[in-house]
Amino acid sequence: MDKIIVEGGHRLCGEVRISGAKNAALPILISSMLADGMNTYANVPNLRDIDSTILLLSNLGARIETSGDTVQIDAGGLNNFEAPYDIVRKMRASILVLGPLVARLKKARVSMPGGCAIGARPINLHLKGLAGLGANIEIKHGYVEASADELNGAEIYFDIATVTGTENIMMAAVLAKGTTVLRNAARDPEIIALAEALNQMGADIHGAGTTVITINGVSSLKPVSFRIIPDRIEAGTFMVAAALTGGNVTLVNAEPDHLGAVIDMLRLTGAEISHDGKTVKVQGKETITSVDLKTQPYPGFPTDMQAQFMVLMSVANGTSVISETIFENRFIHVSELKRMGADITISGNTATVKGVSKLSGAPVMATDLRASASLILAGLVAEGQTKVNRVYHLDRGYQAIEKKFAGIGAVIERVR
Ligand code: EPU
Repeated sequence: MDKIIVEGGHRLCGEVRISGAKNAALPILISSMLADGMNTYANVPNLRDIDSTILLLSNLGARIETSGDTVQIDAGGLNNFEAPYDIVRKMRASILVLGPLVARLKKARVSMPGGCAIGARPINLHLKGLAGLGANIEIKHGYVEASADELNGAEIYFDIATVTGTENIMMAAVLAKGTTVLRNAARDPEIIALAEALNQMGADIHGAGTTVITINGVSSLKPVSFRIIPDRIEAGTFMVAAALTGGNVTLVNAEPDHLGAVIDMLRLTGAEISHDGKTVKVQGKETITSVDLKTQPYPGFPTDMQAQFMVLMSVANGTSVISETIFENRFIHVSELKRMGADITISGNTATVKGVSKLSGAPVMATDLRASASLILAGLVAEGQTKVNRVYHLDRGYQAIEKKFAGIGAVIERVR
């Protein structure tokens, strides 16, 4: 498997182009299942999770063509209602086909995603939502089997704000009879983007981006041409890299409106940040100030940025307390960062990070996407060489990360 080798100690300067958002592209590509005819999606990132989505959709009978960052999907031939274990185990977000399959084919058989490195990640709220719309649901042989002659609008309350849960039920409800109201819905920009794509297909969705989403069912949808929003987590990762190396980095094709909590937190650490339209400039400072942070559902500080921020706090002036409130096991990077000289103590869902003056390069590895990204960041400021093994996870969610870092002055290479 490929490795990424980083030599630390180089200031990052220059311009980096942010790709389309993985977590917006996944549900939006899957929403193509809801209409016959050719949908066209632009700004789709080139990622392993997108390859898995394309494989999943073609397995279900969709016809797909890709060219550069454009993906065209015609789900007119949708004829298979099963998402097999082999695809779902590689990408948990495959569960997003559950709602659309029941809406389109009246039944679905989707492998249950298991837990993963960051937590147990149950899907009970996806199932509760779909059952609320009238689907019959059974778990058999490790698969969710769902069926419904027709789905009917209903009031669905999510006990916890769930991103893919909200997306799944929103996709099921667009073709249901009557009105569905989702309460305590997640408010992430990716949910707004999905609602916009669906509305352009002819759906009638209101309130996406708030905790109450109303979906008036329609009888059919038409294909759409849609541009995927910029990836706020990729953007945040490069912003932290700039702050970490005392660099001066300009992000282009970013969406600062989606980065509020990250921008606020980075400013508190001393970084200077300005933005204009889709451009964000980050100027790092010699001294990084420690700040405390707590991950929260959007618009709070994203759990997907916690590991990267912890690296920044590892070399900051002072002590930082970081609380992870979304996933129960999202400190996988801590043991690897400690091997690089970080001073971090974990107690329950809280990590106390005492800033050290230097990290030292080491061979490291992580079993989660954002944890892997944090190890690259650590490598950028560590003394000597850091070898990040098992690049598989990085390739799931960061497009050509080593090329983008090399383009702004990092000494980094992929070794096959
Ligand atoms: N939860 C339940 N029951 C459910 C669903 C969720 O208890 O049925 C709990 C989860 O265990 C967690 C909380 O609710 O404690 C929030 O989880 P959520 O469902 O929102 O997470 P997700 O939809 O599975 C998405 C992103 C993740 C991101 C989280 C939180 C996609 C494809 N994935 O996951 O992204 O961390 O929201 O923002 O959108 C990543 O990109 O690296 C990544 C992990």
